[in-house]
Amino acid sequence: MALPFFSSTRTIPDITAVPRHIAIIMDGNGRWAKQRLMPRVMGHQRGVETVREVVKACRQMGVEYLTLFAFSSENWRRPADEVSFLMQLFMKMLEREVEKLHKNNIRLKVIGDRSRFEAELVRRIEEAEQLTAGNTSLTLTIAANYGGRWDIMQAMHALSQAHPERASAFGEEELTPYLSMPYAPEPDLFIRTGGEKRISNFLLWQLAYTELYFTDTLWPAFDRAALEEAIQSYQKRERRFGRTSEQLRGEQTTEGKQNA
Ligand code: IPE
Ligand code: IPE
Ligand code: MG
Repeated sequence: MALPFFSSTRTIPDITAVPRHIAIIMDGNGRWAKQRLMPRVMGHQRGVETVREVVKACRQMGVEYLTLFAFSSENWRRPADEVSFLMQLFMKMLEREVEKLHKNNIRLKVIGDRSRFEAELVRRIEEAEQLTAGNTSLTLTIAANYGGRWDIMQAMHALSQAHPERASAFGEEELTPYLSMPYAPEPDLFIRTGGEKRISNFLLWQLAYTELYFTDTLWPAFDRAALEEAIQSYQKRERRFGRTSEQLRGEQTTEGKQNA
């Protein structure tokens, strides 16, 4: 199967000043609300405004792919009323925002295990994806009931179903088309708001060579300026992909980005 994008462990990707793909763990909603003596869910509500602002900023800056972690496969462990609020919020977002996304030429994708979602939610997700499938300005991916381990396992399962005769003798690059985001290059920049320094089972496979950025700013307080700060930090990084600094400097004058 032809791959639209290379795997960072096989081929060194082209580096652009503005990250092509930003993946964000939107954390800190509960604490933001608590600081204001409000119920946690008000933080989620307010977090939606940050989503709008960040989507707009990414589109204007020329980011091609934005992936937002909205609900992890472990978030079902939260109190039932918070889980149900988050599901309702997701439904409302799909209802209210999809037209606007479409007008702005944004393609919407949802990744994660849909089997636990209500039928109505699944239907809306499918409709939104179909409506926006041909859009070209920004691909916005919402990770909902997503887990990095789930992603790798479902991809392994799908790959072995497609080639039962091969048992498990597969190469690394053969798995990529079956992971949840074969349509996007691996993230260039990962941002986690809210102060925690962990991946929390987000894109485990895809983050292999992503630049990681952590900020204490809580998600509802994150804004365009904070995003620009993260991108500036990214622009100062040297992305070596296993090579030395000396090699990188030499590479500017020579051809060939392929691994040896
Ligand atoms: C992130 O904010 C949103 C979701 C996980 C859905 P949190 O709800 O985790 O906020 P904190 O971390 O408790 O402050
Ligand atoms: C990660 O945040 C998941 C999302 C932002 C959707 P959590 O708040 O669930 O992560 P942990 O539990 O602090 O690791
Ligand atoms: Mg949290």
